[in-house]
Amino acid sequence: MSGWSSSRVRVSVPFLDLCREVDYLGTELLDAAERVIRSGSYVLGQEVDLFEQEFARFTRTENCVTVGNGLHAIELALRAWGTGQGDDVLVPANTFIATWLAVSACGAVPIPVDPDPETLTIEARDVAARATPNTAAVIPVHLFGLPSDVPAIRRSLEGRSVRILEDAAQAHGASVKGTPVGGLGDAAAFSFYPSKNLGALGDGGAVTTNDSRMAESVRLLRNYGSAVKYHHEIKGGNSRLDELQAALLRVKLRHVEESNRLRAECARRYLEVLADVPGIALPAPPPVDRSQVWYVFNIRHERRDELRSMLKREGIGTTIYYPEPPHLSPAYAELGYGRGDFPVAEEFAATSLALPFGPYLRVDEQDTVVDSVRRAALALS
Ligand SMILES: Cc1ncc(COP(=O)(O)O)c(C=O)c1O
Repeated sequence: MSGWSSSRVRVSVPFLDLCREVDYLGTELLDAAERVIRSGSYVLGQEVDLFEQEFARFTRTENCVTVGNGLHAIELALRAWGTGQGDDVLVPANTFIATWLAVSACGAVPIPVDPDPETLTIEARDVAARATPNTAAVIPVHLFGLPSDVPAIRRSLEGRSVRILEDAAQAHGASVKGTPVGGLGDAAAFSFYPSKNLGALGDGGAVTTNDSRMAESVRLLRNYGSAVKYHHEIKGGNSRLDELQAALLRVKLRHVEESNRLRAECARRYLEVLADVPGIALPAPPPVDRSQVWYVFNIRHERRDELRSMLKREGIGTTIYYPEPPHLSPAYAELGYGRGDFPVAEEFAATSLALPFGPYLRVDEQDTVVDSVRRAALALS
């Protein structure tokens, strides 16, 4: 450890500074916001209609139905299929807990599948092995921007009536064999939480699907079960994207490909410069058919918590995605899982660390990050 805390001038690097994008898009966002504010129409109006059309085009799907957030996108998609009590839904053991919570909210039971240690997505062989006659659906999560191999999962489930719902909250713009996420499964759920590859300036979500009937069901469910005002076909709820967020998302959608390209550049630099640092494991290259979009950049280290503290002292912000796998959280104690049940998810939770990352992280900041990581890792080696 000697020499670790040097007298160098410290430049802090935040984990994520969302103001950078706002500065970059400045007037475009302000013009869009002013347009909505002056329109007098704030819920389910023209901006939502147009964003739904534009996002359907982006995902090359026939239908996009926006909702209030990504959690509701998953839940309403499952409800639209009638998923509920008595049903099991296969979910990754390593995901943000929202994937599981949406299943529980429908009354179904989440059944965890341990991910592949390299891709960190659930793979066809493991999905098929966990499927039973009670399995109504599987939710592959395109985690950290790497798409799950949904076509292979579909093939592995042939002959069973199991629906595939992509959780695409972290992968706007990723694709498998040239097909964008959103149209790989029977439906897909997106989040537009501010930090996402396509993020609103508040909450937002969407369901995309090529099944028009299913899309209509989600449309009813998000708006009190109503397509015609004060006529209620089913017992729906309220989960709507507002006009302001839709208008801001329309601006950001125009820039998402460029922003994903900048993310990839940052990832490429990190991969290159950190390759020889002792004790650090880097993300594996994606399988050939899968095109990733880099939501976050995770490294792994046996002594992750010490590494994190050292980086913090240097002013380097980091995050852990996610420190507690859902099966070990108190929220899911009722399922009776314990430590060791899903070892890949548990190992990742114990060793992973997300570095400062994003389309507008400056090169000098990236240099500061890799310099600090290298010195901290050497001190720990
Ligand atoms: C994988 C995954 N699924 C679902 C969600 C839920 O999205 P939201 O925060 O918009 O409800 C998120 C994001 O937070 C996520 O990362």
